[in-house]
Amino acid sequence: MLPSCRLAHQCLATVYAVLVLLITPAFSQVQRTPIERGFLNWFGPEHSLPLRSSNEWGSWQSWSPCSRTCGGGAAVRTRQCIKRDSAGPDCPGDTRQYQVCNMKDCPSGVTDFRHFQCSAYNNKPLMGNYYRWLPFQSGQGDCELSCLAQGQNFYYNFGRVLDGTSCHAEYNGICINGQCLKVGCDLILGSDEKTDICGVCGGQNVSCQHHRNIYTTKYPASGLFGYNEVTMIPAGATNIRVTDKSNNYLALRNRNYHYVINGNWAISFPGVFNVAGTKVQYKRSADNQESFEATGPTDEDLHVMIRFLIADKCGKCRKVKGRQNKIKQYCQKDFVFRGRIVSKKIVGKETCYDVQVIITYKNKFPIMRREYMWVPNTCDCPSLLEKREYILMARRHVNYEKTLNRILLERDSFVRLYKPKEDKMLRDLDKECAKSGYQTNPKPNQ
Ligand SMILES: *[C@@H]1O[C@H](CO)[C@@H](O)[C@H](O)[C@H]1NC(C)=O
Repeated sequence: MLPSCRLAHQCLATVYAVLVLLITPAFSQVQRTPIERGFLNWFGPEHSLPLRSSNEWGSWQSWSPCSRTCGGGAAVRTRQCIKRDSAGPDCPGDTRQYQVCNMKDCPSGVTDFRHFQCSAYNNKPLMGNYYRWLPFQSGQGDCELSCLAQGQNFYYNFGRVLDGTSCHAEYNGICINGQCLKVGCDLILGSDEKTDICGVCGGQNVSCQHHRNIYTTKYPASGLFGYNEVTMIPAGATNIRVTDKSNNYLALRNRNYHYVINGNWAISFPGVFNVAGTKVQYKRSADNQESFEATGPTDEDLHVMIRFLIADKCGKCRKVKGRQNKIKQYCQKDFVFRGRIVSKKIVGKETCYDVQVIITYKNKFPIMRREYMWVPNTCDCPSLLEKREYILMARRHVNYEKTLNRILLERDSFVRLYKPKEDKMLRDLDKECAKSGYQTNPKPNQ
């Protein structure tokens, strides 16, 4: 554990939230279904010219199998011009159509499609030699299959990649017949259609309401060290953006009140979280700027919370009493141990105890013989005296920068002066946890 302190003493938490709520899909006529429209006409719309001959298209053959089973491939179908009048003009339009298919992401561990195509040459001789091939960006075009001979200093161009190969990692495009075609939101190859802020493909930004607000939450007068709800983002919201510049932490709960980001006193690493049917990007900078961003639409209500770090006003300490509280905390906290308070000092707005750990009854995480233990107030709640031994039930508190990984004793943590009879009583509590259905994962390291 690191003996470091977080000094957060802001009394106000200001959360900026901008989100767009999807209301009725009033403009659903601009939405397109991928099956009907998911193809490309190479030479403009069909039937755009009046037919002036008796030459006619035969019906479409069925679609070819998709070139890939996942990760976005292409399928093709063809038709033939039935020539009844050899002197008349050709049938207008193209003999081929392309459709994107199997757009779902591949399961992790599946070989990259280019990698797969290069490795297909591993057991084939090239000018009398055998090589192992890896994909290589040769600059010879997005749809060329350039492969590097492993352990050699040359690459070889094997020609066009297979239809359905992504043009490049950073392009949202697919190679067909050696040409890179962008995929629009309508899944048409070569289309420019984009999803509007309401989440409608090809929409005009008019089918939803814009909601923007600044929430200022007063520090709870109770001096609570806890979570407060800031606002609820209803299901169907798109283009969500929530920012916070206070010293506190943003947190996110789902409809069932389960925390999905920064819950249960642990601080999540920034990153992408799959929440409410969308991906929420959680960002956090070293100077305490935080944000949630999601494209949506969400499929359930989300609760934006603020987690206050420190109590401001002292008031009276509440003593946690009773066997039920003791069992509950025993089962839920990360550490239960007998500790002797070596010294105590105030650091910023927190109290830091130097503790000698005498016996561990439960520790979900490693604990050392000598630890710093933090109490996020300067009110002496709970009240602990130097040179005395206590039974302490505490949590682990980690922030994402990993500059904090510490033992945290909260205002309402269970604390008792140690008496010898506590030993046996505490050792029996594991069974109680199982009985009352509390999740516990004790790993005593005595
Ligand atoms: C919709 O809004 C976005 C973001 O403000 C903007 O970039 C885009 O041009 C708008 N589209 C239309 C059709 O107005």
